[in-house]
Amino acid sequence: MNTLFQARYGAATAPGYTLNPTLETLLEHRSVRSYQDKALAPNTLELLIAAAQSASTSSNLQSWSVVAIEDPERKDRLARMAGNQEHIRACPLFLVWLVDLARLDALGDRRGLARDSLDYLELLMVGVIDATLAAQNAAIAAESMNLGIVYIGGMRNQPEAVAAELGLPPRTFGLFGMCIGHPNPERPAAVKPRLPQQAVLHREQYNAKQITAPADDYITTMSNFYKSQGMKTHGDWDQHSLHRVRGPEAMAGRDRLAEALKKLGLALR
Ligand SMILES: Cc1cc2nc3c(=O)[nH]c(=O)nc-3n(C[C@H](O)[C@H](O)[C@H](O)COP(=O)(O)O)c2cc1C
Repeated sequence: MNTLFQARYGAATAPGYTLNPTLETLLEHRSVRSYQDKALAPNTLELLIAAAQSASTSSNLQSWSVVAIEDPERKDRLARMAGNQEHIRACPLFLVWLVDLARLDALGDRRGLARDSLDYLELLMVGVIDATLAAQNAAIAAESMNLGIVYIGGMRNQPEAVAAELGLPPRTFGLFGMCIGHPNPERPAAVKPRLPQQAVLHREQYNAKQITAPADDYITTMSNFYKSQGMKTHGDWDQHSLHRVRGPEAMAGRDRLAEALKKLGLALR
């Protein structure tokens, strides 16, 4: 148990609690970007989707869908759209998680009922939250089966192109992708340390004094991690993170996401 906490925080004392297999799976998470050339066991996809559908969903609206892609040519095209990420080609199964307000729209149309709320930011938010919870359940399910996953935000680089490739109807869009496959033991991924709990856990009220202070230890922890993994970065963890959010030029096309969503029939009122 200590080793899992140690890996997650770089250095830490574990709380007095015995981990169960679910907690072990959660604490052992690491993004996997190198896969064996090996098919998934039969029914894996269906199990993952059952796990995804078991997540909580706002008002039981279930305002998400997912497209499963195994065709190498389609994966290649999606890899290009996502900034040429090789792991999309290498994984046997690529899932694109969708915000899906098309279903409610069609059901409303069939009944002749109003669904004006679909045009508000709130409903887009509901779809984003529902799709994310579903996806994360599938991720944990996959990891519990000794599979590796990595999310692909690069699906939002060119939302209209992704929508065309997947034949998406209006009022849907590809929120993110997810590579799934058997991890390549020759290129094992390491558990990436997270901020100390004091940075993220506030008790009763937000403590503004905690905003940057605990990050200093983490910056040291991450420098050691970068070194151990031979990772090239834009400086320390804070500098590297700030480089990522420096402006539209660092957003790989996602600076025009609001415009793209409107084109795909998702209003932001
Ligand atoms: C919504 C989302 C989108 C992501 N997009 C990408 C991506 O496009 N490519 C990639 O290699 N990793 C991507 N990641 C993985 C993150 O870089 C990774 O989760 C983070 O660095 C923490 O590392 P860990 O997952 O190994 O703990 C994404 C993660 C999330 C949650």
